[in-house]
Amino acid sequence: MWDSDSNVTKAELLKGLDGVDGIICLLGDKIDPAVLDAAGPNLKVISTMSVGVDHLDLVEIKKRGIRVGHTPDVLTGATAELAIALLLAAARRIPEGVEMVKRGERGGVLWMCGYGLSDSTVGIVGLGRIGFAIAQRLVPFGVKRLLYSGRTAKPQAAEVNGEFVPLDTLASESDFVVVTCPLTPETRGMCDEAFFSKMKPTAVFVNVSRGAVVNQEDLYEALSGGEIAAAGLDVTTPEPFPTNHPLLSLTNCVVLPHIGSATYSTRGTMAALAAQNLLGGLQGADMPCELAF
Ligand code: NAP
Ligand code: GLV
Repeated sequence: MWDSDSNVTKAELLKGLDGVDGIICLLGDKIDPAVLDAAGPNLKVISTMSVGVDHLDLVEIKKRGIRVGHTPDVLTGATAELAIALLLAAARRIPEGVEMVKRGERGGVLWMCGYGLSDSTVGIVGLGRIGFAIAQRLVPFGVKRLLYSGRTAKPQAAEVNGEFVPLDTLASESDFVVVTCPLTPETRGMCDEAFFSKMKPTAVFVNVSRGAVVNQEDLYEALSGGEIAAAGLDVTTPEPFPTNHPLLSLTNCVVLPHIGSATYSTRGTMAALAAQNLLGGLQGADMPCELAF
């Protein structure tokens, strides 16, 4: 909908929406009543170039009879790859190692040691499309146990020997925790002090879902106090992340700028799907990926 790099103000953008029939938006574009009011009664369809829909006020959108399209599946592989890259970066201290080379530093046998996946227990919070794709990609690393939590057990978990466990069990028994659930009222702030206190002091925490699933103050305390070993975050609150945020001062926290789906081919496919969703909605026809809500 709008480009955060442009000099156009939000007021100007809202004015530009007047009378539109459809909107294509990105994750940073909050679709709230102000946006819907600005568009007016012609608005038939909102097409978001994302699988997540937590930036859309779905209650208000539904009330106005507007259809929604999103982009599931096509970004699953790219996001799963990024999650594993982030897990390894945090566990094996890769950004820290790069800095050591630049500074010409060297140490003894335990210098720059981290944690490996082989024979480990991995816990996935939300074994959906992305969670399952991560699990599949982790099996060849020699992971010993694969735990997952969620609202319901998943039949496809059998393919990766996944064990459905309560969230507390996942936190306390995992060497790596990977969060891949959506942001909902239930998951907001789910990873907090109580959660981190159950994790092992040697465990690595990875979040590729949404920043608000994590209480970042509690994560800072857990990382700086040695309650957990390291964290990798692709998503934060807010985004972009303030450059003076305390989490960025920690060597055991790797923060990325929400690039889960950022491969050239995936972004191209997402854009095409978002355009097809928009056209379907405008024409009152089928949309390839219409959100049921
Ligand atoms: P999905 O297939 O719908 O999977 C989400 C899973 O989360 C479902 O299995 C669901 O299980 C589970 N879940 C729901 N509520 C939960 C809870 N309270 N506790 C634990 N698990 C819960 O969605 P997806 O395509 O995998 O995408 C998941 C999320 O990843 C998106 O919503 C988005 O926020 C994020 N994402 C991030 C990036 C990135 O660039 N970092 C890219 C794409 C997506 P039930 O069926 O049991 O409810
Ligand atoms: C990215 O975060 C998405 O939801 O597609």
